[in-house]
Amino acid sequence: MTDATDPMPEHPGAPAEAPRLMDRPDWLYLLREFEALYRHGSAGGSKVIRAHRRQVRDRLSAVLARNPELAVRAAEAKPVTAHLARALDVGERGAMQGMARALREVRTLLTWEYGYERVPPALARKYAFCEVLGPRGPVQSDRLILGFVLFAPATTYPQHSHKKIEESYISVAGAWSENNAAVYAPGSLILNRPGDEHRITTGDLEPCLLAYAWTGEPDALGAPGMKLSSTRAPRAG
Ligand SMILES: [Fe+2]
Repeated sequence: MTDATDPMPEHPGAPAEAPRLMDRPDWLYLLREFEALYRHGSAGGSKVIRAHRRQVRDRLSAVLARNPELAVRAAEAKPVTAHLARALDVGERGAMQGMARALREVRTLLTWEYGYERVPPALARKYAFCEVLGPRGPVQSDRLILGFVLFAPATTYPQHSHKKIEESYISVAGAWSENNAAVYAPGSLILNRPGDEHRITTGDLEPCLLAYAWTGEPDALGAPGMKLSSTRAPRAG
């Protein structure tokens, strides 16, 4: 009931056309968590990481200033999303609690996917990713993708690389390792430059949730090419 005679319209002041980002505080505050992370986090003294951080926040700031229409996709779950509630609980106890809480507010709206047509059965139960900003929405951008990847405990994500795409992961919850090089905790940032081969393993007891950012030109982000190390090719992560 929103006619003029209704003294209490259900959505007073609601826009008639497609909602824009500023009409949706749930998505807006999630993106502000990304902006704060990439603006205020340390580069650890690395000029390369500092430049990546700046690129992510500049592109995100441009999207926020544009206030785009939302291209909302149908929500979709995958088997691993049964671990999401636990990952958010763990995340809300740690350094990334703001991001975990903001993500909880949109958890029923997320489109979880695999990114490749034939996912190995073992991996299909243990991994999925969702985009919150990018060429496909829900917040539209052609030069930046922001999203989350969720892993079940004791997962190995196969070795891969990204052509013409620079990728960073920030840990939200759980422990994980890349290329057997170190163990990363909530708040850590890892940069994978274009072509860098990487393989991920996660801890035995808890799920692992990572926020990620991809920067690249529109042709690369619109159809992400991968230089793969196996015949079965994950597209994101
Ligand atoms: Fe990756």
